[in-house]
Amino acid sequence: MAEEHGWQRVAALADLAPDQPHGAKYGEREIVLASHAGQVFALAGICPHAYALMCDGFMNGSEIECPLHAAAFDIRTGKCLVGPVGTADLATYEVKVEAGEIWVRRNAGE
Ligand code: FES
Repeated sequence: MAEEHGWQRVAALADLAPDQPHGAKYGEREIVLASHAGQVFALAGICPHAYALMCDGFMNGSEIECPLHAAAFDIRTGKCLVGPVGTADLATYEVKVEAGEIWVRRNAGE
C-alpha cells in the first residue's frame, strides 16, 4: 500500500457499503472503516474487550457494535458507549478521501 507522511491508502471508496463495517490494514494493524451519512471513519479493528474483529460487527447509525458481546462504540470518537464493564475505547484514525481512494493516518497520541 502507498504511504505518505504517515498516511496510508487502505481501500477504495467503492469497496465500502454505507453502514457496513469494512476491515482493512494500516501497516500490520487491523482497522475497521465505517461509512455513514456520506462520511468515512476509521477505528482500531480489534475490540479491546476480548479481541473480536470489529469488521464482523454491525453498524447502527453512528455506532458500531462488536459481534461477540455487543459492546457499542461511537464511530466518530471511538468512545465505548455500552458494553462489558471496563471495555476501553477504540483508537481512531484520521481519514481523507482523494480520487476515490481512502487514506488513513494514526491520530496523535494513539
Ligand atoms: S469482544 Fe467485543 S464486547 Fe467482547
